[in-house]
Amino acid sequence: MEIKRLDAPFGCEVLGLDINSGVSKDDYLQVRAAFEAHSVVVIRGNPLSDETQIAFSEMFGPCEKTLKGNPAAGSVFARQSNLDIATGDRIPADDRRMFYQKANMLWHADSAFKPRASLCSILSARIIPSEGGATEVASTRLAYEALDTPTKAKIDPLIAEYSLVWSRGLIGYEFNDEERSTMHKVRHPLVRENPANKAKSMLIGAHAMNIRGWDQKKGLELLNYLLEHATQPEFCYSHNWQEGDVLIWDNRACVHRATPYNANAEKRLMQRTTIGDVSDEAFDREAVAA
Ligand code: OGA
Ligand code: MN
Repeated sequence: MEIKRLDAPFGCEVLGLDINSGVSKDDYLQVRAAFEAHSVVVIRGNPLSDETQIAFSEMFGPCEKTLKGNPAAGSVFARQSNLDIATGDRIPADDRRMFYQKANMLWHADSAFKPRASLCSILSARIIPSEGGATEVASTRLAYEALDTPTKAKIDPLIAEYSLVWSRGLIGYEFNDEERSTMHKVRHPLVRENPANKAKSMLIGAHAMNIRGWDQKKGLELLNYLLEHATQPEFCYSHNWQEGDVLIWDNRACVHRATPYNANAEKRLMQRTTIGDVSDEAFDREAVAA
């Protein structure tokens, strides 16, 4: 196995790993160290099955169950696809089920709206279109480092609020009352420190709706400023997919977004597993709930 830096501001590629034949503890630890250091890990030539993807994902930690709204709800997969899960036929672009695809085109960090934030997502390319459909990732670690000292000092202690009702609202999707009643906004520290290397990053993106205790207009001004700053080309990597690619991104230290492809003529099927950040349990939720 070999680990190479990407020709990009951040990220690395792992060569010589065959996930389908089983990943040894040693190989996992090397991949994990590369993930902590580089925030994005590309592994090409690995056409995974659902079973091998789950086994590999569980080495990182517990897989989240996918909530209502995604066609794979109830399983550990989030399915990103324009294909009907039951029939394999293309879903019409104006179908309500395609809303979640639209939401993916906003910069976001997966599961920021959940009480336990996410460590990473693992996305496996099963079917890819001939053109378009790249996934862009921006490093909120590089972006944080580039902030001036007063701005860092100002944002370091802040607690931000996150909500799926809020982020889906940005694309005009409304949950019904029953759905809403089960979805509460959550709080996380805006600035996070990686326990392995102490590098700081920001949990920002579409799910972030305010700063605790702030007027929302002012909170959004700050959050939007930080997101615009973080998604400048100098902090971004764009992944052009080949079938069999596996992409791992650090949800603590990155935001990402989908880009368009011709969903009326082509097919795209990506399977995502999302791993919970167990070290996040150390965060004292009671103390910030007030
Ligand atoms: C995701 C996601 C982007 C894409 O799977 O979480 O945002 O390009 N995907 O499919
Ligand atoms: Mn996502």
